[in-house]
Amino acid sequence: MEKSTKVDVLLGLQWGDEGKGKVVDVLTPRYDIVARFQGGPNAGHTLEFDGKKYVLRSIPSGVFQSGSVNIIGNGVVLDPVLFRQEAEALEASGTDIRKKLKLSKKAHLILPTHRLLDAANEKAKGGAKIGTTGKGIGPTYTDKVSRNGFRLGDSLCDFENRYKQARDRHLNMLEALGAKVDMEELAANEKAWIEAVEYLHGYDIVDSEHFINGQLNEGKSVLCEGAQGTMLDVDFGSYPFVTSSNTICAGACTGLGVAPNRIGDVFGIFKAYCTRVGSGPFPTELFDETGKTLRDLGHEYGAVTGRERRCGWVDLVALRYAVMLNGVTKLIMMKSDVLDGFDTIKACVAYDIDGKQTRDFPYDIENRQLKPVYTELPGWKTDMTAMQSADEFPENFKAYIEFLEKELNVPIAIVSIGPDRKQTIVRDQALK
Ligand code: GDP
Ligand code: IMO
Ligand code: MG
Repeated sequence: MEKSTKVDVLLGLQWGDEGKGKVVDVLTPRYDIVARFQGGPNAGHTLEFDGKKYVLRSIPSGVFQSGSVNIIGNGVVLDPVLFRQEAEALEASGTDIRKKLKLSKKAHLILPTHRLLDAANEKAKGGAKIGTTGKGIGPTYTDKVSRNGFRLGDSLCDFENRYKQARDRHLNMLEALGAKVDMEELAANEKAWIEAVEYLHGYDIVDSEHFINGQLNEGKSVLCEGAQGTMLDVDFGSYPFVTSSNTICAGACTGLGVAPNRIGDVFGIFKAYCTRVGSGPFPTELFDETGKTLRDLGHEYGAVTGRERRCGWVDLVALRYAVMLNGVTKLIMMKSDVLDGFDTIKACVAYDIDGKQTRDFPYDIENRQLKPVYTELPGWKTDMTAMQSADEFPENFKAYIEFLEKELNVPIAIVSIGPDRKQTIVRDQALK
């Protein structure tokens, strides 16, 4: 495998859960550093190898391969209690996480009251709720942007006082929202939180922007691991049904402190179909048996919340938009095997809005008049899960790849044909 020489970015092009964790793990041997740049424990990145399955939330998916340094960047929001659970589970399974991981001083901490605020905000929205993961993501980023945040570096001095100030502010906000707070439960959560912050202090807490740029100057390479997906980006996603960070490529620059001209390849990951979890518009969503079949075959249940994922056909209007926003140089298609048994595959090539067709992603996809325009392709009706090379692919699957490449104008460099690390077919010579 050829080593990369720059900062490459790997991110989701749909509504999350595209399979980012699996591919980061596969590509890690090409890099010296793997870094998360946004999101927090709302993410659930699944990896499978040697018959075992792991779900990572805040820790980068490079931790299972030897040799790479993993970084939680300044753009990430970190829940000390959940981080501790995740790290201790990894330690118990034999990964020396303390040696492999560095944490940015500038990462913001999720407080127990942020989670209460997340729940109270959702309740206040009633039927218009976002369907968040309930991990306190929105309130923590809100505090960051309103300049009330609590950074990991801030916890290194006078942290109990600072914590109490933030907590009291949150309690006032909760009262204004009419939320009832169980003070006994909160006290127990606070105790665990403060202990977990102390646990965090046992890690290498660094100025990650200096560390990463210093390493780049020495010729080292970095893979940035995105969380969520482009359609959940706070600026460009299906607002307000989005997460609270920039999930697009630009987020890697702000979330790690790397300059745009350092960026090399942008790997855009998508499923051969499409899913979404939580509320909000989803133009190609299927409410019929086909949607159910996709959910069953793809095991489409959330890694974090266990919620059913909504399923539908691939949406090329949304994907074209995502390719544009991120400057995708290489596409990675996941879960192709889930379509192995279908007679016909559909792909949405345009939206029909009030009788007018558009291939450009519109401002409002909640419009009830919006209907997906589909192209139908013949299925390949072949079990691909044990295939070793792209030469073995059935002709109809090759035609599906060609069709997508033409529609998106970017080559598909990797095709995933199952959840295991080994079920990965690399088509791009440079990545072999
Ligand atoms: P992430 O959040 O983008 O890392 O994705 P998730 O881990 O939340 O969801 C992807 C799910 O699909 C996980 O359960 C993976 O184990 C599984 N998966 C990944 N690639 C493939 C694939 O090619 N085929 C199948 N059948 N499952 C896959
Ligand atoms: P990964 O990294 C899929 C969704 C939630 C909700 C919205 C806002 O595993 O792909 P939040 O808790 O972030 O305020 O919720 O975003 N969401 C995800 N959906 N995969 C994820 O992460 C997600 N992280 C958040 O369901 O609709
Ligand atoms: Mg996920």
